Amino acid sequence: MTAAANIILTGFMGVGKSTVGAIVALMLKREFVDMDCLLEARASMTIAQIFAKQGEAAFRALERQLAFELAQRKTLVIATGGGTLIDDEVRAALGGSGKIFCLSADAAALHSRLTASGERPLAPNWQELYAARREVYASLPHQIETMGKTPEQLASEIIALDETALYVKTPAGGYPIVLGGGLLKQIPQDAERLGLTGHVIVVSNETVAPLYGEALVKSLPRADLITVPDGEKHKTLGTVRQLYDAMLAHGADRSSTLLALGGGVIGDMAGFAAATYMRGIRFVQAPTSLLAMVDASVGGKVGVDLPQGKNLIGAFKQPETVLLDTDTLKTLPETQWRCGMAEVIKHGLIAQPALLEPELWAPEQAARLLRQAIQVKIDVVEADPFEHGIRAHLNLGHTFGHAIEKVTQFAVPHGEAVAIGIVKAALLSRNLGMIDDALVSRIQRLLRHIGLPTDIQLDAERWYAAMATDKKWKAGVPRLVLLKGVGAATVIEGISKEEILAVL
Ligand SMILES: NC(=O)c1ccc[n+]([C@@H]2O[C@H](COP(=O)([O-])OP(=O)(O)OC[C@H]3O[C@@H](n4cnc5c(N)ncnc54)[C@H](O)[C@@H]3O)[C@@H](O)[C@H]2O)c1
Ligand SMILES: [Zn+2]
Repeated sequence: MTAAANIILTGFMGVGKSTVGAIVALMLKREFVDMDCLLEARASMTIAQIFAKQGEAAFRALERQLAFELAQRKTLVIATGGGTLIDDEVRAALGGSGKIFCLSADAAALHSRLTASGERPLAPNWQELYAARREVYASLPHQIETMGKTPEQLASEIIALDETALYVKTPAGGYPIVLGGGLLKQIPQDAERLGLTGHVIVVSNETVAPLYGEALVKSLPRADLITVPDGEKHKTLGTVRQLYDAMLAHGADRSSTLLALGGGVIGDMAGFAAATYMRGIRFVQAPTSLLAMVDASVGGKVGVDLPQGKNLIGAFKQPETVLLDTDTLKTLPETQWRCGMAEVIKHGLIAQPALLEPELWAPEQAARLLRQAIQVKIDVVEADPFEHGIRAHLNLGHTFGHAIEKVTQFAVPHGEAVAIGIVKAALLSRNLGMIDDALVSRIQRLLRHIGLPTDIQLDAERWYAAMATDKKWKAGVPRLVLLKGVGAATVIEGISKEEILAVL
């Protein structure tokens, strides 16, 4: 499984590589390398001193060596020196390790910026250097125009253009989704950058805690583990109450961080505890199931069930970070992988046709699959953070599915129920003339290929009655997410009971 590639910022001296690079790294919680600073630190001299004592050729040799070293690493944000990428081989090596963004500004603006800042003595041959390097810079494919933009705006622009970077913008700011194999084991080295050096309460369940929780807690400087029983039936206020008690017993205060380690049940419930304990403490999601990775851990919805229904009590609580260790998927039971895939197919149908290509489902492709599936969720929650509109599209197949879960008293797992629900939504869409037969068959084929069911024998009246209790049906008027095509979902209200019964 591949970790995310580097993000490399280059451009002429004074264009803002270091400032913008540092912000990109901070937003993504990645390590930042400013090549010039690192070279100065390693040589214990300023660059001007290296030039004076050893000559430019010696400096370029050091710079080259560092560039090749960094090209071997991953997930860095690198600000190159002004002349680093003029060397063809260095450009190729760093370019092979990630995407190079070239920050640009016109000569006059750069010149006045550099003279105004007075930080650096301007090289006497500045104009010549600019002219000589301009062509190489202009040849780089990803140009970022800096004029009239703040460093923060530039950082956001770069993050949005880099497909290895996952970042969720929220009304109050945003948070990164850090994705990679072995991320949990890496935490001791990264604790500071990830904000995990203070008191951390790791909440997990009896299945996941022995696999990953115990080692994680040992590796953190100051952490306690709280383990709750496994299963949706424990996603209750009673368990949250136990969490509060255990947090108090561990001395958690407003400066503590709660880290949820597990599937969606843990994320939802621990997130609700983080949202409410002492009016809210810092929250980090570390999802370990496919469903939690592509769906539950992103978007800030947290909550618990009541005996009367699922997710009836909850809050919006945005995490500080989502830490997604793809290695944890190795222990995920097959059925849980399939259930997560039902949501991936849902994401594919509502917004990203690429997710419907079986080649992307191979375990070796997991990082790509996750990135694309998560991006769908990010786009939806950014557009509609508080679920007033298109976030409803994420409910494709869910009204049918939740009713199956209810009628069968949760004997059918959520993902399987959603798979059947997606087929029902597709059939209804076809009956209403919105999609053709071929698409319905394709959806059925894809779900079968994954090993998911496409139908179930249930009493249609009971099924319909259970659907009618859906939170989203206002005053009993049916409200369903249907398909207009691949990548195009829509909410339809007021479909007749007969039309719905016809597909059940
Ligand atoms: N907040 C949201 O936006 C949102 C969205 C979708 C679903 N959800 C919620 O998510 C929950 C479902 O999540 P889920 O499917 O992850 O269920 P889950 O949390 O029950 O996990 C499924 C099973 O897999 C086990 N497991 C998880 N990771 C494992 C690993 N790496 N190795 C071995 N076993 C592992 C769990 O212990 C559990 O037994 C539901 O409660 C649902 O309401 C929330
Ligand atoms: Zn779901």
